[in-house]
Amino acid sequence: MISKYRHLIDLNDFSVSEWDSIISLAKEIKKNPALYSHRCDGKIMGTLFYEPSTRTQMSFQTAMLRLGGSIIGFDNPETSSVAKGENLKDTTKIVSSYADIMVMRHPLEGSAKAAALTSDCPIVNAGDGGHLHPTQTLTDLLTLSEQKGTLSGLTVGLCGDLMNGRTVHSLLKALSCYKNNKFVLISTPELRLPSYIKDILNASSCSFCEVDSLEDAIPELDVLYMTRIQKERFSSEEEYNAQKDVYVLDRNKLMKGKHDLVVLHPLPRVDEISIDVDEDPRALYFVQAKNGVYVRMALILTILENPSPTKLFDGKVHAGVCCRNKKCITNREKYLPKSFWGMGDTLVCEYCDERILL
Ligand code: NCD
Repeated sequence: MISKYRHLIDLNDFSVSEWDSIISLAKEIKKNPALYSHRCDGKIMGTLFYEPSTRTQMSFQTAMLRLGGSIIGFDNPETSSVAKGENLKDTTKIVSSYADIMVMRHPLEGSAKAAALTSDCPIVNAGDGGHLHPTQTLTDLLTLSEQKGTLSGLTVGLCGDLMNGRTVHSLLKALSCYKNNKFVLISTPELRLPSYIKDILNASSCSFCEVDSLEDAIPELDVLYMTRIQKERFSSEEEYNAQKDVYVLDRNKLMKGKHDLVVLHPLPRVDEISIDVDEDPRALYFVQAKNGVYVRMALILTILENPSPTKLFDGKVHAGVCCRNKKCITNREKYLPKSFWGMGDTLVCEYCDERILL
């Protein structure tokens, strides 16, 4: 199924050369933002945030305002008709008829794709549950490209909640499209990377290993991407408590890192990077957060000035088959058409990437 609008649901809705162009444009905007201050005059961006957000929401809003456009939307669904029981289809249908571009964050996986099915304007996925977060990845790529001058041949450590961290999933998918990166996946056995992402890494020119110790891994890294344990994705406080505070980057551990190590974090940080690390020149997470504005300005311009269709589904409905992922949007919004693509005796849900063994 093809949508006539240019959505960004997953980064692979765009080609690698388009990511590179967005990053180059973001660098140009950063050098001379005044040149772009009227490019979106008269345009409206709708922001639908069903989940808490500081950086993503405000950097999108800042980006649109700095381009000369305006914003509408909500950051708390309880103050919108969602509190009265309105479904995702109706909310997105209506807001997309008011706005020229819509940015959505939602706790359920596959929600951005579901919204794109009926939207009357382009949709940008600002995080769908623990699944994907493509615009954080654009921010990460811009920061890495500035700091390292390349997105290839890097040894990248990713540490923390690799299972539920949507920023990790999108970043690994993206970096695996560049040549010869090596990923050191640092987590407890309980919070390892989902196997569908490992399959993507295995099919790429990149290699990866899974380890437990941050301290042992640090010396070989060019990049360390720290992440928060995603409390809101755990089914009990007990399970969360068993995972929190396992990995803490402090000055002592950082002493073992290369002199040109780049330390990133999508933020918010809880306790996984101690405050005294902030003074170290290798701590680049605040630069990374600020880059979010420039890369989102570049993304908004790219989407609005180059309209083109987006393929939403490759597969088909399989009679009687439903997604088994409880956090998949298709299990909440029952009217949604299910769609699966086949892989041997396994089907893959096209909303959330869950595998279903037949
Ligand atoms: C991340 C997110 O929402 O996934 N934050 C962000 O967008 N910068 C990371 C997180 O919440 O841990």
